[in-house]
Amino acid sequence: MPGYSDRDRGRDRDRGYGGGPPRFGGHRGGGGGGGGGGSKFGNPGERLRKKHWNLDELPKFEKNFYQQHPDVSRRSPQEVEQFRRAKTVTVKGRDCPNPIMNFHEAGFPSYVMDVINKQNWTEPTPIQAQGWPLALSGKDMVGIAQTGSGKTLSYLLPAIVHINHQPFLERGDGPICLVLAPTRELAQQVQQVAAEYGRASRLKSTCIYGGAPKGPQIRDLERGVEICIATPGRLIDFLESGKTNLRRCTYLVLDEADRMLDMGFEPQIRKIVDQIRPDRQTLMWSATWPKEVRQLAEDFLKEYVQINVGALQLSANHNILQIVDVCNDGEKEDKLIRLLEEIMSEKENKTIIFCETKKRCDDLTRRMRRDGWPAMGIHGDKSQQERDWVLNEFKYGKAPILIATDVASRGLVCELDQMLKCDGSFPAAFFTRMFCCNERLK
Ligand SMILES: Nc1ncnc2c1ncn2[C@@H]1O[C@H](COP(=O)(O)OP(=O)(O)OP(=O)(O)O)[C@@H](O)[C@H]1O
Ligand SMILES: [Mg+2]
Repeated sequence: MPGYSDRDRGRDRDRGYGGGPPRFGGHRGGGGGGGGGGSKFGNPGERLRKKHWNLDELPKFEKNFYQQHPDVSRRSPQEVEQFRRAKTVTVKGRDCPNPIMNFHEAGFPSYVMDVINKQNWTEPTPIQAQGWPLALSGKDMVGIAQTGSGKTLSYLLPAIVHINHQPFLERGDGPICLVLAPTRELAQQVQQVAAEYGRASRLKSTCIYGGAPKGPQIRDLERGVEICIATPGRLIDFLESGKTNLRRCTYLVLDEADRMLDMGFEPQIRKIVDQIRPDRQTLMWSATWPKEVRQLAEDFLKEYVQINVGALQLSANHNILQIVDVCNDGEKEDKLIRLLEEIMSEKENKTIIFCETKKRCDDLTRRMRRDGWPAMGIHGDKSQQERDWVLNEFKYGKAPILIATDVASRGLVCELDQMLKCDGSFPAAFFTRMFCCNERLK
Protein backbone atom coordinates (compact mmCIF):
# COMPACT_ATOMS: atom_id res chain seq x y z
CA MET A 1 0.00 0.00 0.00
CA PRO A 2 1.45 3.32 -0.89
CA GLY A 3 1.99 5.76 1.91
CA TYR A 4 3.97 8.81 2.77
CA SER A 5 5.57 7.59 5.95
CA ASP A 6 8.58 6.20 4.13
CA ARG A 7 9.19 9.55 2.52
CA ASP A 8 8.80 11.54 5.71
CA ARG A 9 11.96 12.75 7.24
CA GLY A 10 12.77 11.40 10.75
CA ARG A 11 9.39 11.86 12.39
CA ASP A 12 10.90 10.85 15.68
CA ARG A 13 13.42 13.66 15.62
CA ASP A 14 12.89 16.73 17.65
CA ARG A 15 11.20 19.32 15.51
CA GLY A 16 13.41 22.04 16.91
CA TYR A 17 15.01 24.72 14.84
CA GLY A 18 17.65 23.74 12.42
CA GLY A 19 16.85 20.02 12.56
CA GLY A 20 16.52 19.40 8.83
CA PRO A 21 18.62 20.01 5.80
CA PRO A 22 18.80 23.80 5.62
CA ARG A 23 17.61 24.16 2.05
CA PHE A 24 15.93 27.36 3.11
CA GLY A 25 18.66 28.46 5.48
CA GLY A 26 20.47 31.71 5.18
CA HIS A 27 17.51 33.97 4.51
CA ARG A 28 17.04 36.03 7.59
CA GLY A 29 15.64 39.33 8.62
CA GLY A 30 12.44 41.32 8.36
CA GLY A 31 9.06 40.34 7.07
CA GLY A 32 7.39 40.90 3.78
CA GLY A 33 7.85 44.63 3.70
CA GLY A 34 8.40 47.78 5.67
CA GLY A 35 9.05 47.96 9.39
CA GLY A 36 7.29 49.60 12.28
CA GLY A 37 3.93 48.80 13.78
CA GLY A 38 0.89 48.26 11.61
CA SER A 39 -1.57 51.13 11.82
CA LYS A 40 -5.23 50.69 12.59
CA PHE A 41 -5.97 53.67 10.41
CA GLY A 42 -5.51 54.41 6.75
CA ASN A 43 -4.87 51.74 4.24
CA PRO A 44 -3.87 48.48 5.90
CA GLY A 45 -0.81 47.01 4.31
CA GLU A 46 0.16 50.16 2.44
CA ARG A 47 3.74 49.66 3.55
CA LEU A 48 3.86 46.13 2.18
CA ARG A 49 5.67 46.17 -1.12
CA LYS A 50 4.62 43.78 -3.86
CA LYS A 51 7.42 41.25 -4.15
CA HIS A 52 9.18 40.58 -7.41
CA TRP A 53 10.11 36.95 -7.54
CA ASN A 54 12.93 35.33 -9.40
CA LEU A 55 12.00 31.68 -9.40
CA ASP A 56 15.54 30.61 -10.35
CA GLU A 57 16.87 32.06 -7.13
CA LEU A 58 14.26 30.58 -4.82
CA PRO A 59 15.00 27.31 -3.02
CA LYS A 60 13.26 24.42 -4.74
CA PHE A 61 10.47 22.59 -2.95
CA GLU A 62 8.31 19.55 -3.59
CA LYS A 63 4.55 19.70 -3.77
CA ASN A 64 3.46 16.49 -5.47
CA PHE A 65 3.22 13.69 -2.93
CA TYR A 66 0.46 11.67 -4.46
CA GLN A 67 0.95 7.98 -5.06
CA GLN A 68 -2.18 6.43 -6.42
CA HIS A 69 -3.34 3.38 -4.53
CA PRO A 70 -3.48 0.24 -6.74
CA ASP A 71 -7.23 -0.13 -6.05
CA VAL A 72 -7.75 3.40 -7.37
CA SER A 73 -5.61 2.79 -10.46
CA ARG A 74 -7.53 -0.38 -11.22
CA ARG A 75 -10.90 1.34 -11.47
CA SER A 76 -12.26 1.81 -14.96
CA PRO A 77 -13.23 5.25 -16.27
CA GLN A 78 -16.85 4.05 -16.11
CA GLU A 79 -16.55 3.21 -12.42
CA VAL A 80 -14.98 6.59 -11.72
CA GLU A 81 -17.70 8.32 -13.67
CA GLN A 82 -20.39 6.40 -11.85
CA PHE A 83 -18.89 7.31 -8.46
CA ARG A 84 -18.69 10.98 -9.35
CA ARG A 85 -22.24 10.99 -10.61
CA ALA A 86 -23.53 9.25 -7.49
CA LYS A 87 -21.77 11.81 -5.28
CA THR A 88 -22.70 14.77 -7.54
CA VAL A 89 -19.02 15.57 -8.02
CA THR A 90 -18.12 17.49 -11.16
CA VAL A 91 -14.58 18.18 -12.23
CA LYS A 92 -13.31 20.95 -14.48
CA GLY A 93 -9.70 21.25 -15.56
CA ARG A 94 -6.91 19.00 -16.76
CA ASP A 95 -5.42 15.86 -15.20
CA CYS A 96 -7.62 15.52 -12.20
CA PRO A 97 -6.73 12.26 -10.43
CA ASN A 98 -9.42 9.66 -9.81
CA PRO A 99 -11.36 10.04 -6.60
CA ILE A 100 -10.62 7.70 -3.74
CA MET A 101 -13.48 5.77 -2.21
CA ASN A 102 -12.09 4.71 1.15
CA PHE A 103 -9.86 6.42 3.68
CA HIS A 104 -6.96 4.03 3.24
CA GLU A 105 -6.81 4.81 -0.49
CA ALA A 106 -5.60 8.32 0.24
CA GLY A 107 -2.39 6.76 1.54
CA PHE A 108 -2.08 9.20 4.41
CA PRO A 109 0.74 8.48 6.83
CA SER A 110 -0.14 6.39 9.87
CA TYR A 111 0.03 9.36 12.23
CA VAL A 112 -2.84 10.96 10.26
CA MET A 113 -4.77 7.72 9.79
CA ASP A 114 -4.69 7.03 13.52
CA VAL A 115 -6.62 10.23 14.18
CA ILE A 116 -9.10 9.53 11.36
CA ASN A 117 -9.68 6.01 12.63
CA LYS A 118 -10.62 7.33 16.05
CA GLN A 119 -13.55 9.26 14.56
CA ASN A 120 -15.53 6.18 13.49
CA TRP A 121 -16.41 7.76 10.17
CA THR A 122 -17.48 5.36 7.47
CA GLU A 123 -16.03 7.02 4.38
CA PRO A 124 -14.56 10.25 3.03
CA THR A 125 -17.12 12.90 2.18
CA PRO A 126 -17.40 13.58 -1.60
CA ILE A 127 -15.25 16.73 -1.39
CA GLN A 128 -12.59 14.74 0.47
CA ALA A 129 -12.83 11.77 -1.92
CA GLN A 130 -12.02 13.99 -4.87
CA GLY A 131 -10.17 16.77 -3.06
CA TRP A 132 -7.50 14.69 -1.30
CA PRO A 133 -5.88 13.14 -4.39
CA LEU A 134 -5.98 16.50 -6.11
CA ALA A 135 -4.51 18.48 -3.23
CA LEU A 136 -1.87 15.81 -2.56
CA SER A 137 -0.76 15.94 -6.17
CA GLY A 138 0.35 19.53 -5.68
CA LYS A 139 -2.11 21.11 -8.06
CA ASP A 140 -3.83 24.41 -7.55
CA MET A 141 -7.49 23.78 -6.95
CA VAL A 142 -10.88 25.18 -6.19
CA GLY A 143 -13.24 23.12 -4.03
CA ILE A 144 -16.88 24.04 -3.85
CA ALA A 145 -19.19 22.17 -1.57
CA GLN A 146 -21.90 23.12 0.80
CA THR A 147 -21.41 23.83 4.42
CA GLY A 148 -20.61 20.95 6.72
CA SER A 149 -19.26 18.84 3.86
CA GLY A 150 -15.82 18.32 5.38
CA LYS A 151 -13.80 20.96 3.54
CA THR A 152 -11.52 21.66 6.50
CA LEU A 153 -9.90 18.23 6.44
CA SER A 154 -9.92 18.32 2.63
CA TYR A 155 -7.14 20.90 2.82
CA LEU A 156 -5.62 20.30 6.26
CA LEU A 157 -4.58 16.69 5.81
CA PRO A 158 -2.75 17.33 2.51
CA ALA A 159 -1.23 20.37 4.25
CA ILE A 160 0.20 18.12 6.96
CA VAL A 161 1.72 15.83 4.34
CA HIS A 162 3.09 18.84 2.46
CA ILE A 163 4.71 20.29 5.58
CA ASN A 164 6.21 17.01 6.65
CA HIS A 165 8.08 16.87 3.35
CA GLN A 166 9.61 20.31 3.74
CA PRO A 167 12.78 21.20 5.62
CA PHE A 168 12.26 22.01 9.29
CA LEU A 169 11.57 25.57 10.24
CA GLU A 170 14.53 27.65 11.25
CA ARG A 171 14.57 30.58 13.57
CA GLY A 172 12.93 33.55 11.88
CA ASP A 173 10.94 31.43 9.43
CA GLY A 174 7.25 32.10 8.95
CA PRO A 175 4.61 29.39 8.39
CA ILE A 176 4.73 26.80 5.60
CA CYS A 177 0.95 26.56 5.39
CA LEU A 178 -1.14 29.70 5.58
CA VAL A 179 -4.92 29.43 5.86
CA LEU A 180 -6.85 32.67 5.41
CA ALA A 181 -10.31 32.66 6.95
CA PRO A 182 -12.96 35.35 7.28
CA THR A 183 -13.68 35.38 11.01
CA ARG A 184 -11.87 34.60 14.21
CA GLU A 185 -14.43 31.98 15.19
CA LEU A 186 -13.82 30.14 11.98
CA ALA A 187 -10.05 30.53 12.24
CA GLN A 188 -10.17 29.09 15.74
CA GLN A 189 -12.25 26.13 14.62
CA VAL A 190 -9.78 25.37 11.85
CA GLN A 191 -6.91 25.63 14.29
CA GLN A 192 -8.53 23.14 16.64
CA VAL A 193 -8.63 20.64 13.78
CA ALA A 194 -5.06 21.50 12.76
CA ALA A 195 -3.89 20.95 16.32
CA GLU A 196 -5.70 17.64 16.61
CA TYR A 197 -4.29 16.18 13.40
CA GLY A 198 -0.90 17.91 13.50
CA ARG A 199 -0.07 16.86 17.05
CA ALA A 200 1.19 13.40 16.14
CA SER A 201 3.83 14.81 13.82
CA ARG A 202 4.56 17.66 16.23
CA LEU A 203 3.39 20.36 13.89
CA LYS A 204 2.76 23.64 15.58
CA SER A 205 -0.12 25.85 14.58
CA THR A 206 -1.45 29.19 15.64
CA CYS A 207 -4.41 31.40 15.07
CA ILE A 208 -4.01 35.07 14.22
CA TYR A 209 -7.04 37.35 14.46
CA GLY A 210 -7.98 40.85 15.44
CA GLY A 211 -9.77 41.95 18.59
CA ALA A 212 -7.43 40.01 20.89
CA PRO A 213 -4.09 40.97 22.45
CA LYS A 214 -1.20 40.76 20.02
CA GLY A 215 1.41 39.56 22.52
CA PRO A 216 0.54 35.85 22.67
CA GLN A 217 0.02 35.70 18.89
CA ILE A 218 3.42 37.30 18.29
CA ARG A 219 5.04 34.89 20.74
CA ASP A 220 3.58 31.91 18.88
CA LEU A 221 4.84 33.27 15.58
CA GLU A 222 8.28 33.92 17.00
CA ARG A 223 8.45 30.41 18.42
CA GLY A 224 7.82 29.15 14.89
CA VAL A 225 4.64 27.56 13.55
CA GLU A 226 4.24 25.38 10.49
CA ILE A 227 0.54 26.19 10.16
CA CYS A 228 -0.89 29.66 10.58
CA ILE A 229 -4.61 30.27 10.36
CA ALA A 230 -5.31 33.97 10.07
CA THR A 231 -7.91 36.57 9.40
CA PRO A 232 -6.50 39.01 6.83
CA GLY A 233 -6.37 42.24 8.86
CA ARG A 234 -4.25 41.06 11.78
CA LEU A 235 -1.94 39.12 9.49
CA ILE A 236 -1.27 42.23 7.40
CA ASP A 237 -0.49 44.09 10.58
CA PHE A 238 2.08 41.44 11.59
CA LEU A 239 3.56 41.29 8.10
CA GLU A 240 3.99 45.05 8.02
CA SER A 241 5.64 45.13 11.39
CA GLY A 242 7.90 42.19 10.54
CA LYS A 243 6.47 39.92 13.24
CA THR A 244 6.17 37.20 10.68
CA ASN A 245 6.87 36.66 6.99
CA LEU A 246 5.67 34.38 4.23
CA ARG A 247 9.01 33.43 2.67
CA ARG A 248 8.56 29.80 3.64
CA CYS A 249 4.89 29.67 2.67
CA THR A 250 4.38 27.08 -0.07
CA TYR A 251 0.81 25.94 0.72
CA LEU A 252 -1.82 28.65 0.70
CA VAL A 253 -5.47 28.07 1.54
CA LEU A 254 -8.27 30.56 1.11
CA ASP A 255 -11.13 29.16 3.16
CA GLU A 256 -14.64 30.54 2.76
CA ALA A 257 -13.42 32.66 -0.13
CA ASP A 258 -16.94 33.86 -0.91
CA ARG A 259 -17.43 35.03 2.62
CA MET A 260 -14.07 36.83 2.72
CA LEU A 261 -15.07 38.76 -0.38
CA ASP A 262 -18.50 39.54 1.10
CA MET A 263 -16.71 41.01 4.07
CA GLY A 264 -14.56 43.26 1.90
CA PHE A 265 -11.23 41.50 2.47
CA GLU A 266 -10.26 41.38 -1.20
CA PRO A 267 -7.63 44.17 -1.16
CA GLN A 268 -6.04 42.69 1.94
CA ILE A 269 -6.03 39.18 0.51
CA ARG A 270 -4.31 40.50 -2.59
CA LYS A 271 -1.62 42.18 -0.51
CA ILE A 272 -1.01 39.01 1.46
CA VAL A 273 -0.86 36.82 -1.64
CA ASP A 274 1.70 39.23 -3.17
CA GLN A 275 4.02 38.25 -0.32
CA ILE A 276 3.97 34.55 -1.20
CA ARG A 277 6.15 32.90 -3.81
CA PRO A 278 4.15 32.37 -6.99
CA ASP A 279 5.02 28.69 -7.41
CA ARG A 280 3.24 27.87 -4.15
CA GLN A 281 0.28 25.51 -4.16
CA THR A 282 -2.95 27.46 -3.79
CA LEU A 283 -6.27 25.97 -2.71
CA MET A 284 -9.50 27.90 -2.63
CA TRP A 285 -12.61 26.69 -0.83
CA SER A 286 -16.02 28.13 -1.00
CA ALA A 287 -19.63 27.15 -0.46
CA THR A 288 -20.72 29.27 -3.42
CA TRP A 289 -19.15 30.29 -6.73
CA PRO A 290 -20.10 33.86 -7.57
CA LYS A 291 -18.20 35.81 -10.20
CA GLU A 292 -16.02 37.67 -7.69
CA VAL A 293 -14.71 34.36 -6.37
CA ARG A 294 -14.14 33.16 -9.93
CA GLN A 295 -12.08 36.29 -10.61
CA LEU A 296 -9.97 35.70 -7.53
CA ALA A 297 -9.34 32.13 -8.66
CA GLU A 298 -8.27 33.36 -12.10
CA ASP A 299 -5.83 35.78 -10.49
CA PHE A 300 -4.30 33.56 -7.82
CA LEU A 301 -4.38 30.06 -9.22
CA LYS A 302 -2.42 28.46 -12.04
CA GLU A 303 -3.94 25.82 -14.31
CA TYR A 304 -6.27 24.84 -11.57
CA VAL A 305 -8.74 22.03 -11.31
CA GLN A 306 -12.13 22.87 -9.95
CA ILE A 307 -14.22 20.34 -8.14
CA ASN A 308 -17.77 20.92 -7.30
CA VAL A 309 -20.09 18.92 -5.12
CA GLY A 310 -23.80 19.43 -5.62
CA ALA A 311 -25.49 22.14 -7.64
CA LEU A 312 -23.42 25.15 -8.63
CA GLN A 313 -26.25 27.56 -7.96
CA LEU A 314 -26.70 28.72 -4.45
CA SER A 315 -29.78 26.97 -3.29
CA ALA A 316 -31.62 26.32 -0.10
CA ASN A 317 -31.09 23.11 1.80
CA HIS A 318 -34.19 21.04 1.20
CA ASN A 319 -33.88 19.15 4.46
CA ILE A 320 -34.88 22.35 6.16
CA LEU A 321 -38.46 23.42 6.68
CA GLN A 322 -38.72 27.12 6.00
CA ILE A 323 -41.65 29.15 7.23
CA VAL A 324 -42.02 32.76 6.18
CA ASP A 325 -44.28 34.99 8.24
CA VAL A 326 -44.71 38.44 6.74
CA CYS A 327 -45.79 40.99 9.33
CA ASN A 328 -45.25 44.62 10.13
CA ASP A 329 -42.56 45.86 12.49
CA GLY A 330 -44.90 46.46 15.42
CA GLU A 331 -46.11 42.86 15.45
CA LYS A 332 -42.70 41.30 15.19
CA GLU A 333 -41.61 41.02 18.81
CA ASP A 334 -44.92 39.63 20.04
CA LYS A 335 -44.90 37.06 17.29
CA LEU A 336 -41.33 36.17 18.12
CA ILE A 337 -42.16 35.64 21.77
CA ARG A 338 -45.17 33.48 20.93
CA LEU A 339 -43.03 31.41 18.62
CA LEU A 340 -40.33 31.03 21.26
CA GLU A 341 -42.84 29.88 23.84
CA GLU A 342 -43.79 27.16 21.43
CA ILE A 343 -40.18 26.26 20.64
CA MET A 344 -39.00 26.28 24.25
CA SER A 345 -41.69 23.82 25.26
CA GLU A 346 -40.03 21.32 22.92
CA LYS A 347 -37.10 19.16 23.96
CA GLU A 348 -34.87 20.20 21.06
CA ASN A 349 -34.96 23.93 21.30
CA LYS A 350 -31.56 25.38 20.49
CA THR A 351 -32.37 28.50 18.49
CA ILE A 352 -30.50 31.29 16.77
CA ILE A 353 -32.26 34.57 16.11
CA PHE A 354 -30.55 36.72 13.51
CA CYS A 355 -30.79 40.50 13.66
CA GLU A 356 -29.75 43.00 11.07
CA THR A 357 -27.77 45.36 13.34
CA LYS A 358 -25.67 45.20 16.50
CA LYS A 359 -28.03 47.64 18.21
CA ARG A 360 -31.06 45.54 17.40
CA CYS A 361 -29.19 42.50 18.67
CA ASP A 362 -28.38 44.25 21.98
CA ASP A 363 -31.92 45.60 22.41
CA LEU A 364 -33.56 42.26 21.78
CA THR A 365 -31.13 40.41 24.05
CA ARG A 366 -31.78 42.92 26.84
CA ARG A 367 -35.53 42.67 26.46
CA MET A 368 -35.57 38.90 26.35
CA ARG A 369 -33.28 38.49 29.34
CA ARG A 370 -35.39 40.96 31.28
CA ASP A 371 -38.37 38.75 30.56
CA GLY A 372 -36.48 35.70 31.78
CA TRP A 373 -35.54 34.03 28.51
CA PRO A 374 -32.26 32.03 28.48
CA ALA A 375 -30.89 34.25 25.70
CA MET A 376 -27.44 35.63 24.95
CA GLY A 377 -26.24 38.05 22.31
CA ILE A 378 -23.24 37.97 20.02
CA HIS A 379 -21.96 40.46 17.47
CA GLY A 380 -18.77 42.00 16.18
CA ASP A 381 -18.41 44.61 18.94
CA LYS A 382 -18.23 42.03 21.71
CA SER A 383 -14.80 41.16 23.02
CA GLN A 384 -13.20 37.95 21.89
CA GLN A 385 -13.48 36.48 25.36
CA GLU A 386 -17.18 37.27 25.56
CA ARG A 387 -17.87 35.84 22.12
CA ASP A 388 -16.08 32.61 22.96
CA TRP A 389 -17.95 32.33 26.20
CA VAL A 390 -21.36 33.04 24.66
CA LEU A 391 -20.77 30.54 21.85
CA ASN A 392 -19.80 27.85 24.33
CA GLU A 393 -22.82 28.51 26.52
CA PHE A 394 -24.95 28.16 23.41
CA LYS A 395 -23.21 25.12 21.98
CA TYR A 396 -23.44 23.18 25.21
CA GLY A 397 -27.08 24.14 25.72
CA LYS A 398 -26.69 26.36 28.79
CA ALA A 399 -28.25 29.29 26.98
CA PRO A 400 -30.33 27.76 24.19
CA ILE A 401 -31.24 31.08 22.56
CA LEU A 402 -28.53 32.94 20.69
CA ILE A 403 -29.28 36.39 19.32
CA ALA A 404 -26.74 37.27 16.68
CA THR A 405 -25.72 39.40 13.79
CA ASP A 406 -24.29 37.39 10.93
CA VAL A 407 -20.90 37.21 12.65
CA ALA A 408 -22.19 33.92 14.00
CA SER A 409 -23.75 32.69 10.80
CA ARG A 410 -20.78 30.81 9.43
CA GLY A 411 -18.76 27.96 10.66
CA LEU A 412 -20.85 27.60 13.79
CA VAL A 413 -20.56 23.86 14.13
CA CYS A 414 -23.29 22.61 16.40
CA GLU A 415 -26.67 21.04 16.26
CA LEU A 416 -29.30 23.66 15.74
CA ASP A 417 -33.02 23.15 16.01
CA GLN A 418 -34.43 26.49 14.94
CA MET A 419 -33.21 29.53 13.10
CA LEU A 420 -35.22 32.71 13.09
CA LYS A 421 -34.54 35.83 11.14
CA CYS A 422 -35.87 38.81 12.89
CA ASP A 423 -35.48 41.62 10.41
CA GLY A 424 -34.01 42.61 7.08
CA SER A 425 -33.95 40.56 3.94
CA PHE A 426 -32.78 37.03 4.25
CA PRO A 427 -29.68 36.18 2.22
CA ALA A 428 -30.02 32.81 0.53
CA ALA A 429 -26.51 32.01 1.72
CA PHE A 430 -27.76 31.44 5.26
CA PHE A 431 -29.61 28.37 4.17
CA THR A 432 -26.52 26.68 2.90
CA ARG A 433 -24.47 27.66 5.89
CA MET A 434 -26.22 26.28 8.88
CA PHE A 435 -26.44 22.87 10.37
CA CYS A 436 -30.16 22.81 10.92
CA CYS A 437 -32.57 19.99 11.41
CA ASN A 438 -35.53 22.25 11.20
CA GLU A 439 -35.88 25.88 10.47
CA ARG A 440 -38.39 28.66 10.77
CA LEU A 441 -37.88 31.92 9.08
CA LYS A 442 -39.42 35.11 10.18
N1 LIG B 1 -15.45 11.87 6.31
C1 LIG B 1 -16.22 12.39 7.26
N2 LIG B 1 -17.29 11.68 7.73
C2 LIG B 1 -18.08 12.20 8.71
N3 LIG B 1 -17.92 13.43 9.26
C3 LIG B 1 -16.89 14.17 8.81
C4 LIG B 1 -16.00 13.69 7.80
N4 LIG B 1 -15.07 14.66 7.56
C5 LIG B 1 -15.37 15.69 8.38
N5 LIG B 1 -16.45 15.42 9.14
C6 LIG B 1 -17.10 16.29 10.14
O1 LIG B 1 -18.02 17.14 9.48
C7 LIG B 1 -18.17 18.38 10.19
C8 LIG B 1 -18.13 19.56 9.21
O2 LIG B 1 -16.87 19.65 8.61
P1 LIG B 1 -16.22 21.03 8.14
O3 LIG B 1 -16.28 22.03 9.23
O4 LIG B 1 -14.90 20.71 7.58
O5 LIG B 1 -17.22 21.48 7.02
P2 LIG B 1 -17.07 22.65 5.94
O6 LIG B 1 -17.32 22.02 4.62
O7 LIG B 1 -15.76 23.35 6.12
O8 LIG B 1 -18.28 23.62 6.31
P3 LIG B 1 -18.35 25.24 6.29
O9 LIG B 1 -18.66 25.65 4.87
O10 LIG B 1 -19.46 25.53 7.24
O11 LIG B 1 -17.04 25.76 6.79
C9 LIG B 1 -17.04 18.41 11.21
O12 LIG B 1 -17.59 18.17 12.48
C10 LIG B 1 -16.14 17.27 10.80
O13 LIG B 1 -15.48 16.69 11.91
MG1 LIG C 1 -15.21 25.31 6.49
